[in-house]
Amino acid sequence: MLNPQLAPDGRPFNIVTLKNISGTTATLMDWGATWLSLQLPLQDAKPRELLLGCQHPADYLIQRAYLGATLGRYANRIANATIEIDGKPHLLTANQRGNQLHGGPEGFDKRRWQILSHSAQQVSFQLVSADGDQGFPGELTAQVDYALTEDNRLEIRYQASVDKLCPVNLSNHAYFNLDGEGTDARQQTLQLFADQFLPVDSDGIPQDRLVDVANSGMDFRIAKTVAKDFLQDSYQQRVKGYDHAYLLRHSCHHAANPAAHLWSADGRVKMSVFTSAPALQLYSGNFLSGAINRAGGQYPNYSGIALESQFLPDSPNHANWPQRSCWIKPGQIYHSSTAYQFFSL
Ligand code: BGC
Repeated sequence: MLNPQLAPDGRPFNIVTLKNISGTTATLMDWGATWLSLQLPLQDAKPRELLLGCQHPADYLIQRAYLGATLGRYANRIANATIEIDGKPHLLTANQRGNQLHGGPEGFDKRRWQILSHSAQQVSFQLVSADGDQGFPGELTAQVDYALTEDNRLEIRYQASVDKLCPVNLSNHAYFNLDGEGTDARQQTLQLFADQFLPVDSDGIPQDRLVDVANSGMDFRIAKTVAKDFLQDSYQQRVKGYDHAYLLRHSCHHAANPAAHLWSADGRVKMSVFTSAPALQLYSGNFLSGAINRAGGQYPNYSGIALESQFLPDSPNHANWPQRSCWIKPGQIYHSSTAYQFFSL
């Protein structure tokens, strides 16, 4: 019988907790290089859990919501699971209606990452993905570093190198509910510094053109609750809510400028997101139901909000989009970094 405390490779899950001087903790696991928890002490010193997560490490194996996982080689969707190399179609392993989602059926979220180093406030994970893994060309070595700073930033730094030309898009799929588990996450207030977003069809595959957020429910340039314009337009109706990539303003690429802010409904917690990535995927947990929660029950839909830093979805097939290339050549290093900063108000 499968020991519920062991990972599919028969070895235990390794869990690392980072802690800073104010008592904030961030917990990470080597399986999927997954971010399990973020506990922030509030003004009354009581810690609040701000991330959705499962009760036991083994529960992560049986949920399909990618809770807190590292996504790779290519976060989000690649249409028809096909990229083009030297002018010829190159087939990847599909895992969703003929498309590839989050790196394929055995993406980086379903792998044992090696812990390279860890200390009280930092942990580094490494994964070597073989040539042909999930259909991708070449061997790829990925590294993800998590650091918890004294000012309550969880900094995530991604690096990757390849030995054949390959598209690379690494991200994290944490879901936030700054009010704590058990409330409707759409009551949170969001501000997103993006003037354009990418419409998708009902399979989440992007259409060819970015669209201005102005005059639609997709506009978060002025802070509003996620609930305010929820399902008010056909963009959202196709995918049961927000599940869209926003192209960030150029000003967001300066490390000091946030890409987004999120506030709890009770006004006690704020989170700011900083990223070097061109886009943020806003996902309102439209298909979250069934994932095991921290009490061993199940999350309903819309109980967490994901803000995933990445290239626009299906970028390998859209060289014309206004962002840097997602293709990495041998000798180049892929870099991406994202920080989530938490404030107790
Ligand atoms: C995607 C959703 C998908 C979810 C899986 C998100 O990043 O945008 O369409 O259902 O991941 O949990």
